[in-house]
Amino acid sequence: MSITAANEYSTAELSELARRHLWMHFSRMGGDPHAPLPIIVAGEGCYVYDADGKRYLDGLAALFCVNAGHGRPELADAAAAQIRELDFFTTWSYAHPRAIELAERIAKLAPGDLNRVFFTSGGSEAVESALKLVRNYHLLTGNARKTKVIAREIAYHGTSLGALSATGITSLREQFEPLAPGGCHVPNTNSYRWPADRDPLWAADAIAERIEFEGPSTVAAVILEPVQNGGGCFVPQDGYFQRVREICDANDVLLISDEVICSWGRLGYYFGSERYGYQPDIITTAKGLSNANQPMGAMIASDRVAAPFMEGKRSFSHGFTFGGHPVAAAVALANLDIFEREDLCGHVREKEGEFRAMLEDLRDIPIVGDVRGAGFFQAVELVKDQKTKESFNDEESEDLLRGFLSGELYRNGLICRADDRGDPVIQLSPPLIADTEQFEEIGHVLRTVLTAASERMA
Ligand SMILES: Cc1ncc(COP(=O)(O)O)c(C=O)c1O
Repeated sequence: MSITAANEYSTAELSELARRHLWMHFSRMGGDPHAPLPIIVAGEGCYVYDADGKRYLDGLAALFCVNAGHGRPELADAAAAQIRELDFFTTWSYAHPRAIELAERIAKLAPGDLNRVFFTSGGSEAVESALKLVRNYHLLTGNARKTKVIAREIAYHGTSLGALSATGITSLREQFEPLAPGGCHVPNTNSYRWPADRDPLWAADAIAERIEFEGPSTVAAVILEPVQNGGGCFVPQDGYFQRVREICDANDVLLISDEVICSWGRLGYYFGSERYGYQPDIITTAKGLSNANQPMGAMIASDRVAAPFMEGKRSFSHGFTFGGHPVAAAVALANLDIFEREDLCGHVREKEGEFRAMLEDLRDIPIVGDVRGAGFFQAVELVKDQKTKESFNDEESEDLLRGFLSGELYRNGLICRADDRGDPVIQLSPPLIADTEQFEEIGHVLRTVLTAASERMA
C-alpha cells in the first residue's frame, strides 16, 4: 500500500510541533523535548505505518477499537455519502434515518429485551449515561435513595467524574476527588492471585456482601465488564455472572454490562454478555461499534428500564450534541455489514485457540507468570518469580514497562499495551481479521523482547 501521507512537515518537525501544541491523553509530556514521538500516519488491515514509513503490527487494534481492521474503503464511502445526504442533525427532539436504522439493528443483536438505544460520542459518555439512568429509574419507580453503584477494583469505566467514581483505579481517582458520590468497590475475578482453595464464586458473593453492607435500599446498580480490562483481561469464573444476576434481582439492583471493549466481536460475539450467558439490564458500548472510524458510543437499555421514561410528559433529561451523529451512524451500519459479510465473530471463535496457544507457548520465559483472557482479548502477566508469583515492585515495574518493554516492543514493530494499573501485564487485542501470520509475528516479537526483559530483570 502507499504509506505516503500528505504531511506538510518532516517527521522531526511533526514531533517538535506535537510536543509544543498537542496535549496527548494519558501521556507524559515532559522529558527530552527533542525525543521523537511515535507518529502514525496510515493504516491498512492489521498494520499501521509511522511517519518514516516503518510498518507496525497493530496488536491493540488502536486501543481495542479497530475491530474490522484499518483502512476499510466501505466505511470511507459510507461517511462521504452520508455527508452529502445529511451532514448533521441532532437526536434532540428530532430523528434521522441512520440513527433509527442503527438503533433497530443494535436492538436486534443485543441480548433479550435490550431494545432502547441511546447514542453517545464514546465510552465514558455511555457509562455516564447509564449511571444517570439507573438513578433516574429508581427515582421514577419510587426508590429515590437507590443511588450507589458497585464496581470492581482496578476496573476502568472512563474518565468523566461519574464514570470515574465507578473506575476502581486509585491513582486515577485520588487526584480528581471529590468524584460523583456513591462509587463502591469490590474484589475482581483475578483468580491467579487467589489461594487455591478459594470458592470460585467468592468474588460474586462479595457483591452481595457489599450490597448488604451499604443497605440494599441505597444501591442502584452493579457495573461490570464481561472480561475486565484493567489489571489485564480478568475472566469471570464459571457461574459468576449467573450469581451476580441472582444477587441483583434479589436486591432490586440493575446490572450494567460495560462492554466498551468486550462487544463487537472482541470476545467472539456481538456482545460479551452473550459469551457468558447473562442478561444485563443495560449495556454500555463504543469503540468497535463504528470501527472507531467515527467517534460513537451507545447505552442500550432494556424495555423494563426504559418503560418509566416513556410515560406521559416524562423524558430522560440527558443528552449530547453528537449522540447518534448521522455520519457516525452511517459508518457503524456499514461496519456491521462487514461483520455479517465476513463473519468476524465466527472467525474469532475459530481462531482464538490458536492465538491463545501462541501466548501459552511463552510460559517458558522466566518472567511470564500468567496467560489469560478470552477471544482476541488476552494478557500476559509478568512476575519476578514464576513459582511464588512474586510481582515486581513499583520501581522495578516502572523500569520494566516504561524503561524497557514499551519502547522495545514498538522498536520491534509491535503495538501492544504494557500496563501496570494492577500487576504488570502485556495486553493484546488485535483486529479481528488477524490470523496465523499475525499470531506468529506477535509471538516472535514477544519472545525476543520478553526474553531480553527477563535477562535484564534477573
Ligand atoms: C470498559 C470501559 N468503559 C469505558 C471506557 C471509556 O471509553 P472512552 O475512552 O471512549 O470514553 C473504556 C475505555 O477504554 C473502557 O474500556
